[in-house]
Amino acid sequence: MLVPGKAKWLAALVFLAWLVVIGVVRLVLVVGRYPLFVWVPVVTAWCSLSFGVSTLVLVVLSLVAALVLWFGLYPVSFRRHCWLRVLTEWRRATVYVPRWRSVMRLAELSKRDGRREYRPRLGRVRSEGWRDRVRVRMVPAQSPEVWELRREGLAHAFGARSCRVRVVRPRVVELDFVHSDPLARPVSVPAFPDVVDLKRVTVGVTETGKPWRLRLLGSQVLVVGVPGAGKGSVLWSLVWQLAPSVRDGLVRLVGIDPKGGMELGQCPDAFDRVAYDNGADAVALLEEIATEVKDRATRYRGVRRLWARSTGEPFTVLVVDELADLIAYQPDRQLRERAQRAIQTITSQGRAPGYAVVGLVQDPRKEVVSFRHLFTTRVALRLDEPGQVDMVLGDGVRQRGAAAHEIGEDTPGVAWTKQDGQREPERARAFHVTDDDLDTLRRYVRPAEVRAFPTSPEGVAA
Ligand SMILES: Nc1ncnc2c1ncn2[C@@H]1O[C@H](COP(=O)(O)OP(=O)(O)OP(=O)(O)O)[C@@H](O)[C@H]1O
Ligand SMILES: [Mg+2]
Repeated sequence: MLVPGKAKWLAALVFLAWLVVIGVVRLVLVVGRYPLFVWVPVVTAWCSLSFGVSTLVLVVLSLVAALVLWFGLYPVSFRRHCWLRVLTEWRRATVYVPRWRSVMRLAELSKRDGRREYRPRLGRVRSEGWRDRVRVRMVPAQSPEVWELRREGLAHAFGARSCRVRVVRPRVVELDFVHSDPLARPVSVPAFPDVVDLKRVTVGVTETGKPWRLRLLGSQVLVVGVPGAGKGSVLWSLVWQLAPSVRDGLVRLVGIDPKGGMELGQCPDAFDRVAYDNGADAVALLEEIATEVKDRATRYRGVRRLWARSTGEPFTVLVVDELADLIAYQPDRQLRERAQRAIQTITSQGRAPGYAVVGLVQDPRKEVVSFRHLFTTRVALRLDEPGQVDMVLGDGVRQRGAAAHEIGEDTPGVAWTKQDGQREPERARAFHVTDDDLDTLRRYVRPAEVRAFPTSPEGVAA
């Protein structure tokens, strides 16, 4: 049996050991989380104590020279493996950790249950320069909408321009603290491609700097945006990238422009056929294409599952500038219903026989959105209201960060895009196709002037 004095000592020892364990665990966590901030001072101190200050100065100078050389020779790798790591540690240590507790309390994101406080847990922080991605484990029974509502306050509290909330998995959200917009400047069109890949047609750049690609083969594309949002630039970027195949007759463009040629009239030379209204001519053209789709589908049945270049038949892209004018606002009921039937046929059956529809829409009303499911790739340029985002991109996509209603008027061509089967929506900007570019395009696709352009495309990759 222990005497009371000994028991006291033992309890004190256990308590001390417990403190030491906690201290060690915390130290390991700090070293793991801030390796640079811990190791640089430790190594500096050790170096100056062991070898003297002059050796330390020499080491520091050599290190700086090595970093400058790294930056000069491999700027991308330097940025990724050095600069962004330092920035991540810096932002975590100076912005998120010190302010987290008070901001959570003041934003009423922490909860009290009696004496216990439930506080959202700050998880992984990743800085990409223009944005910080901050993972958060929400408190039990909290919904992402609560965070959505606090976005502006959080952005101000952590010194960012804006904040986006994305649901990662149950109980975990990721906050994007945006410091600058990498898509603020227009992106010029590149040179005509040598090879056109219909599965990956590049129409711009994403905010992470990668090419923004749209799939045409086996896909239908819906582009929605208020007037002036830049639908034209998505359309012309697509035509620009298809131009070598259009010129060689491997891709055929057919257009319907119910606004009398305001859009497609800028470069009709790229199109095999164009109708400039939303009346009988346009509907007749749609029905003609629908009949072609059915014919080709019948011929392909049992022979092939998907159009390929080897069929010798052109891949057809039907561009409709204001889809709603045909299928929703056409006052003649008969024409409207015929147009709806034809569009339904082309979009639902055109995949295998090599027909793609690119539909542009200004106003995502119910009548148009009922056709949304026929389009497997959807692009939301600037929209008027938050509710429209899910109407265009699909249910729950706004919750994953696609804030198309927040795209500024000063950045036309910026869009949120989502492809069926792709989990995360992407933010991107279409190439800016200027009037001069359209002139170049016109001369490029017009057969009489083909010889003026030396590039000889190898063809279409299917
Ligand atoms: N990607 C872009 N980069 C820079 N500027 C752009 C881009 N796209 C469009 N713009 C500019 O924005 C303006 C409107 O663009 P655009 O005509 O394409 O809009 P829209 O959505 O087609 O409008 P509408 O519905 O009226 O046809 C144009 O003056 C154009 O120069
Ligand atoms: Mg337009």
